[in-house]
Amino acid sequence: MTDDQAAREQAVTDRVLASFDNAPSERYREVMRSLISHLHGFAREVRLTQEEWDAAIAFLTRVGHITDDRRQEFILLSDVLGLSMLTVGINAPASAGATESTVFGPFFVEDAPEIPLGGDIAQGAKGVPCYVEGTVRSTDGSPLPGARIDAWESDEDGFYDVQYEGEVTAGRGWLRAGENGEYRFWSVKPSAYGIPDDGPVGELLAAGGRGTMRPAHLHFKVTAPGHRTLITHVFVAGDKYLAEDVVFGVKDSLVAEFAEHDGGTAPDGSPRDGRWAHLRFDLTLAPMS
Ligand code: BEZ
Ligand code: FE
Repeated sequence: MTDDQAAREQAVTDRVLASFDNAPSERYREVMRSLISHLHGFAREVRLTQEEWDAAIAFLTRVGHITDDRRQEFILLSDVLGLSMLTVGINAPASAGATESTVFGPFFVEDAPEIPLGGDIAQGAKGVPCYVEGTVRSTDGSPLPGARIDAWESDEDGFYDVQYEGEVTAGRGWLRAGENGEYRFWSVKPSAYGIPDDGPVGELLAAGGRGTMRPAHLHFKVTAPGHRTLITHVFVAGDKYLAEDVVFGVKDSLVAEFAEHDGGTAPDGSPRDGRWAHLRFDLTLAPMS
């Protein structure tokens, strides 16, 4: 490239950068300056062709068109590009002793049913019954009685209730930790599943020669006064997709044994017929700084 060409290209970038100089918000100026610098730098580095620019605009247009109240293709795009996990890492830096965070995902529902301590969130979701228990604590080890625990999961076919036909609620609920921070509930053992791939994000993954699978996991959102909200999952140890999660959400500390048993008596004293699983997982929240 000639010096002349390089100077012409830099002049475009400089003019755009300067156009934000009078933005009243300092943070807005900072973010936009960086965004423009990186976006222009990217186009220059790859020598973006007009056809590639057209294809990118058409792609983003399809992402917009398929997004509605039930489907958020923009979040899915951020997830598969690793931007969601990077943002999680920036905003919830590993805090000594606290349970690690991971992606929120698109399947949380605000008005899930409250269940009693020891109740069942499955509510018809198919799968091997799974008893989940643990203690919610602060990083100093003190229990957090009354902490709110939201849990949600896929059924044995890898589907969340919001993907079923009709308005069904299954595989989700919330409860409060008991007086010693203890929690326990029944659910089903979650299964690995493919993220929605019938839209533009599916095309992007296929073009990249990438898979679509998430390893089996149980989602948690845990809140307690004076503490940072914890958004996380517990992954099923041994799942074959642990090393290739399409949204890069797996952390070693979040992988746990969902021990399977045949018959016998569950930890809550209930007699079991057939297979059931058991997960013990303590949840530790970082105090608000
Ligand atoms: C989930 O775990 O529910 C999820 C996260 C990111 C993309 C799709 C699903
Ligand atoms: Fe999930």
